[in-house]
Amino acid sequence: MSAGRAAVVCGLGTWLPPRVVTNDDLSQVLDTSDEWIRSRTGIGQRHVADPTMATSDLAVEAGGRAMKSAEVDSVDAVVLATTTPDRPCPATAPLVASRLGLGTVAAFDVVAVCTGFLYGLATGAGMIATGGAERVLVIGADTFSTILDPHDRSTRAIFGDGAGAVVLRAGQPDEDGALGAFDLGSDGTGSELIVIPSGGSRDPRRDPDRPAEGDADPYFRMAGKSVFRNAVERMTASARKTMTDVGWSTPPDVLVAHQANLRILHAVADRVGIARDACAVNLDRVGNTAAASIPLALADATLSGLLRPGHRLLMTAFGGGLAWGSCTMRWPAVTPG
Ligand code: COA
Repeated sequence: MSAGRAAVVCGLGTWLPPRVVTNDDLSQVLDTSDEWIRSRTGIGQRHVADPTMATSDLAVEAGGRAMKSAEVDSVDAVVLATTTPDRPCPATAPLVASRLGLGTVAAFDVVAVCTGFLYGLATGAGMIATGGAERVLVIGADTFSTILDPHDRSTRAIFGDGAGAVVLRAGQPDEDGALGAFDLGSDGTGSELIVIPSGGSRDPRRDPDRPAEGDADPYFRMAGKSVFRNAVERMTASARKTMTDVGWSTPPDVLVAHQANLRILHAVADRVGIARDACAVNLDRVGNTAAASIPLALADATLSGLLRPGHRLLMTAFGGGLAWGSCTMRWPAVTPG
């Protein structure tokens, strides 16, 4: 980022669909139990969108709240991180922008699965740094309930729906809220570990009941154990690198990590040397909300008082791609909407 100009977080908004599905609810329809899900993941419940809702509906709610929190009624661009766009084509962001009354601003989607929000932040920060925008709305929104196999207990136990957003504005690098160091990475050799096998150009078949050759599989699949190991290793390495790059010799005040699994969160915190009680945790109430995970956790940590203005904050995420990322900042005085 050029000296003297930084992207600064100045608003935060979130939205969760009202319907809550508890572990006990899941155990009515799947061979699972509250005890299994809580002890293996830390998750107690998740929010699930009604069938009439699409990702844009969640994104509009969170985006509108972020703009209200920032006290702005216009932005120059909308970046929407999502793996569950309303339709495969076109991108969902232009629809979100127009529904928010933002006119003909630049609007596009970013797909980096559970790291999407951090990739979106980096994209928005880049637009501001190069002078292409003064204000950018970055939204992370996903409705994973629409891509899960209803019979797959290992994914249905984990994922929930939700949306979160921030407004970035041009400012100074030494302000609270200025985005600091970024580390972004990927490893496509692990692309099969988190995957929707069918429905893309590699395997366009969409109807699992009418297989052309073999079985089409339109559902989200995850190799849980490998993903677990990779998540711990990648987030730990990325978090350490970011702290070194920004020159922090002591642990951050607060860690907001992607809310995948409480055991993953604690493993990363232990390795990076961050106290477990300095970690934001809301997965017990919302599960893994993919691209919405980081902004939902930021809002939760702010409202609970864990994350306060001036705190040194480290954000880190990992997900399908494989893709991961981290970012540092000093938390600003924002009131989540
Ligand atoms: N309820 C009950 N049993 C379940 C279950 C559930 N919800 N989900 C999986 N199991 C079963 C499996 O079927 C398996 O049974 P088997 O031994 O009879 O085959 C058994 O539990 C062990 O499965 P395994 O996958 O080895 O369990 P695990 O301890 O690794 O936990 C996850 C499974 C999914 C919770 C864990 O791997 C995980 O959290 N991985 C990371 C997932 C993640 O965070 N993804 C998002 C990253 S962005």
